[in-house]
Amino acid sequence: MSNSSRLSLFAVSPPGLEHITRAELFALGINHPVAVPGGVEFSGYLTHLYRVNLWSRTASRVIARVGEFEAKGFDELRRKAADLAWEKFLRPDTKVEVRATCHKSKLYHSDAVAERVAEAIADRIGTPAPTPPPLGKSPMGAGQGAGVVVRLDHDHCTLSLDSSGAHLHQRGYRLQTAKAPLRETLAAALLLHAQYDPAQPLLDPFCGSGTFAIEAALIARNIAPGLRRRFAFIHWVNFDTQEWGEQLKKARAEIDDSTPIIFASDRDEGAIEAARANAERAGVADSIQFRACAVSSIEPPSAPGLVIANLPYGKRVGSDARNVCAQFGKVAREKCAGWRVGVIAGSLALAKQTRLPFGEPLWIENGGLRVPFLVTPPQTPSTPESRAAHPR
Ligand SMILES: C[S@@+](CC[C@H](N)C(=O)[O-])C[C@H]1O[C@@H](n2cnc3c(N)ncnc32)[C@H](O)[C@@H]1O
Repeated sequence: MSNSSRLSLFAVSPPGLEHITRAELFALGINHPVAVPGGVEFSGYLTHLYRVNLWSRTASRVIARVGEFEAKGFDELRRKAADLAWEKFLRPDTKVEVRATCHKSKLYHSDAVAERVAEAIADRIGTPAPTPPPLGKSPMGAGQGAGVVVRLDHDHCTLSLDSSGAHLHQRGYRLQTAKAPLRETLAAALLLHAQYDPAQPLLDPFCGSGTFAIEAALIARNIAPGLRRRFAFIHWVNFDTQEWGEQLKKARAEIDDSTPIIFASDRDEGAIEAARANAERAGVADSIQFRACAVSSIEPPSAPGLVIANLPYGKRVGSDARNVCAQFGKVAREKCAGWRVGVIAGSLALAKQTRLPFGEPLWIENGGLRVPFLVTPPQTPSTPESRAAHPR
């Protein structure tokens, strides 16, 4: 397969954020990306596959379809899977990790399905049949192996290759975490959803390991999120070294030297240390002003911007979440008049404690919990007149 073969591609995105990934792909020059539950379908060449892996801030992984067919029995599955041209992607010595999901199909035992597909690939490319890892236990293609994704839905089998390897939230900078860290892909998606404008200040007063602040700095400085990591597609037979090298070179040249105004604080000194070390690894430590302080002591600049925070949930972070939310709301109203505020809250009831005028929630999954992300509408700067008209 050369760079001239069109591929059927799918960018997996965090649940509820498919529309954000779609907009991102469109901005990356992808034609007709279509948001569907679980991600975004698109088609393109290797150049597009590389570009989305390198530049998407919100996708979890990018998979390429190898083939699809109907299968109601194991023999049929193995035979049809072996008919696919795996050798266009995989070398005979490639270790294969197969992960299967089955939904409303005659073949419902996902481990057995994964095993047959692994055997079929071995039949085709000539390696001894590898043992598939138990579901969810292995980072797909994180090493030298190739991740194969099998999806059986109403007896329709779709077989894809994972081009990303380790999950795309693993940018390579966050080696140190504080309590309840946020996935980098989710943090970036929420910044985009809140329409973060790098020309205005950004403030995260509960920064933990610094994910929002670092992702904002990467956006502001136009740093490709995948610049510091490796991808599974570099092991494919059709890997286009020259194209990939050019994309990396271009991405390095496009880094912006601007100095965004980003404040990150947390009352936990250990969290600040971790956040600073992470920012250094991400190459954006100069773009963020860190400070160990409680939310009540923050000193935002007078020019308004965006306050964004993952508020403590109580369930995950051992503090009185209701009081912290109420305190945050008071600080935001008193010290951040004219700023927009975006928060991940443990629940709508907790968000209500802030007494901030949030719009409709965007429901997201964070740390296995379904929680709301809420943003206030753009505000007009606070004046004595407006304060008199809207007493708090
Ligand atoms: C849910 S975590 C934030 C995680 C962060 N977004 C990340 O990606 O690592 C909440 C953070 O709030 C901090 N925190 C709790 N109460 C605080 C307070 N009153 N003032 C400032 N920080 C506080 C905790 O130390 C913790 O790091």
